[in-house]
Amino acid sequence: MTAPQVKARKGGELIKMITAYDFPTAQIADRAGADVILVGDSVANVVLGYADTLAVSVDDMVHHTAAVTRAQPTALVVGDMPWLSYHTSIEVTVANAGRFIREGGAGAVKLEGGRKRLPMVKAVLDAEIPVMGHLGLTPQSVHAMGGYRVQGRRAAAAYDLISDAKALDDAGVFAMVLEGVPDALAEMVTREIGAPTIGIGAGAHCDGQVLVFHDVVGLGGDEFVPKFVRAYASLADDAVAAVKDWFADVDSGDFPSQDETYHMPEQSAEILRDFAASQSVVDLVGDDLLADEAMEN
Ligand code: KIV
Repeated sequence: MTAPQVKARKGGELIKMITAYDFPTAQIADRAGADVILVGDSVANVVLGYADTLAVSVDDMVHHTAAVTRAQPTALVVGDMPWLSYHTSIEVTVANAGRFIREGGAGAVKLEGGRKRLPMVKAVLDAEIPVMGHLGLTPQSVHAMGGYRVQGRRAAAAYDLISDAKALDDAGVFAMVLEGVPDALAEMVTREIGAPTIGIGAGAHCDGQVLVFHDVVGLGGDEFVPKFVRAYASLADDAVAAVKDWFADVDSGDFPSQDETYHMPEQSAEILRDFAASQSVVDLVGDDLLADEAMEN
């Protein structure tokens, strides 16, 4: 999947995007049929245990992006540019975006914000790097927003968001995440712009949907779960039960079984026993070479 192919899905088959942060989650997402894998800066929360996404650096994100692309997914891999990696200058922005492509192997980058970030968006596009926009509840603006709040509930704010969406669309983003906005606003943006919208907490009228991998499979901790999350498994609970079962088998002596154990050829075992009795290392080495065999199951 390429960025132009994702763009061409506007108004057609819904785009399925999910986050992944490493080799196994990328393999799972790809096997499940993801169109787009987002190496989200939510890695900060769900993998690295930070309270917000502001903690991760370009180095962190490129490291995780490279782990995802080593899975060689057929899905488009989008690297999420972290806070301060595209805010200070055009040169820094393009250099950072380039690292996601050259070192991370991504096919596109995502960055948050609207008209304020337009010069950066245009510069990255000019460097031939496809850009995914992200409007609405943009977690990197948590302090500026005064918390994680639904955005665009009032007409003026909604109008502002539509203007941002149009500006990003005119600049040439290939897709746009709409996060934490009322469904009527998401529907209007989806109708107004040429790029497909991918919603998270934005209702049912977008051109696609995205969720965080750990939320979908129930791998999160006990922290607050937003109302737009739907979990389809309880992998954290299943994993705790599996590890507990293993510990119980260790305690009972049931683990490891003979089948889970490497064995020596009987001849070598006998030599070893003789050695233990005689303490002659010369005998041990000389005779054991005769019995040397590859380790087998
Ligand atoms: O970092 C992330 O996971 C995201 C999605 C929520 C869109 O940006």
